[in-house]
Amino acid sequence: MQEMRDFSQAPARQVFIETFGCQMNDNDSTRMLGLLEKIRYVRTDLPERADLILVNTCSIRDKAEQKVYSTLGRFRALKQARPGLIIGVSGCVAQQHGERLLNRVPHLDMVLGPHNLHRLGELIERVESRGERVAATAQSAAIAEGEYGVAAKSAGVKASISIMRGCDNFCSYCIVPYTRGREVSRTAGEILSETAALARTGVKEVTLLGQNVNSYGKKGGSGAGFAELLRRVCMTSGIKRVRFITSHPKDVSDALVDLFDERPELCRHIHLPVQSGSDTVLGAMRRGYTRDEYLEMVLAIKERYPDMAVTTDVIVGFPGETEACFSETMDLIEHVGFDNIFSFMYSPRPGTDAAGFGDAVPADVKSTRLRVLQERQREITSRERSALVGRTLGVLVEGASKTDGAELTGRTGCNRIVNFAAPRAVAGEIVDVCITGVMPNSLRGEPCVRPS
Ligand code: SAH
Ligand code: SF4
Ligand code: F3S
Repeated sequence: MQEMRDFSQAPARQVFIETFGCQMNDNDSTRMLGLLEKIRYVRTDLPERADLILVNTCSIRDKAEQKVYSTLGRFRALKQARPGLIIGVSGCVAQQHGERLLNRVPHLDMVLGPHNLHRLGELIERVESRGERVAATAQSAAIAEGEYGVAAKSAGVKASISIMRGCDNFCSYCIVPYTRGREVSRTAGEILSETAALARTGVKEVTLLGQNVNSYGKKGGSGAGFAELLRRVCMTSGIKRVRFITSHPKDVSDALVDLFDERPELCRHIHLPVQSGSDTVLGAMRRGYTRDEYLEMVLAIKERYPDMAVTTDVIVGFPGETEACFSETMDLIEHVGFDNIFSFMYSPRPGTDAAGFGDAVPADVKSTRLRVLQERQREITSRERSALVGRTLGVLVEGASKTDGAELTGRTGCNRIVNFAAPRAVAGEIVDVCITGVMPNSLRGEPCVRPS
């Protein structure tokens, strides 16, 4: 049995954390900071002041992975100057390379896979008191006791909650099922009490996170499906807005679509990653839907909810993607009118099936396709946003605007940033704002004056 240390009298130490990747990683970083707080660490923005440096990594594309090595390189001199400094790597690169990272990066002390975050305190202890270099990358089938024991905290009015772990879809290009392991859901009870705890600290908006939230409850959980869980989260006292990400198109249920009608807290935004508009490519990607099935679903949602913002992810240059396949993607984005897309050049990931596919698309063709796609989408986004000028939208105020401290900033239900001048609104309030203009990445507005 390990002896419990009493940290109440320990001097505060400082942790610097750098986070790459998706919202799941942001959530993991927040949870690690929560754990560290219990053992008297306080956060610093200055690595040179830190006693502990954590790099929470992403390996979704090769570029993301390379960033990890350059980031760790930046900290080498700090470790040389202060050997007591502990440097750790967590997240998807940690899982992918495990102990090999310790060999490759001599100034690294600790490697921590996503299923092991709750062991952070114990690992720090081993590095500190025994001078060990440690790697914890075991994957477990079930969520361990205490794994999500530290409720996600929030710095303001918004917070995220991980509702499940892992992914079972094995899209042929994707590393996530390997780094995050098999899909398993947290219990609804645990998620709802975390939601309530966040609401009590002043959080007004929560985002439920999972690689495929629509399959929530299929493995693990406590009987509730995703739509039911979402309904109960919406009904939590104090919560004004609820979002979720990511929804796999093959698993969208009628119950989920109906819920937008039922619950006013549910934001009118849905992220539905299409990846490609070509059936040949979708088949090779193993996405589990066809172009027509996707279009039928998305257009039905847009017709039923005209104010729904639909966003998507697209990969260009997947092996075997011809000019004709790419044109089908262009045609699909034209047809749907996405509010925004996140687009990427295909990057082969070691160990995935697609890494062994022939017919690679040359790098210059990939980058041309990406540019063409992004240019056209910029026009579509601006057209979709211009249509909002003159409309009144509810904006959840987050605080002072970054560009002009005299102004306030917040987001609409459909997740667009709005900057506006208002003398009285405070963070956490939902204010009716009349949209007056469109900027490249945001909207401008002014508070509506209601007739008295
Ligand atoms: N679970 C989510 C996606 C998580 S990864 C879903 O299924 O939608 C986020 C996005 O990264 C993916 O939607 C995909 O567009 C992109 N992506 C994943 N693997 C990639 C790869 N090997 N190369 C390029 N982009 C990739
Ligand atoms: Fe990756 Fe596909 Fe799982 Fe998304 S659904 S995380 S793209 S394997
Ligand atoms: Fe990256 Fe892992 Fe998220 S690979 S996108 S950090 S699940």
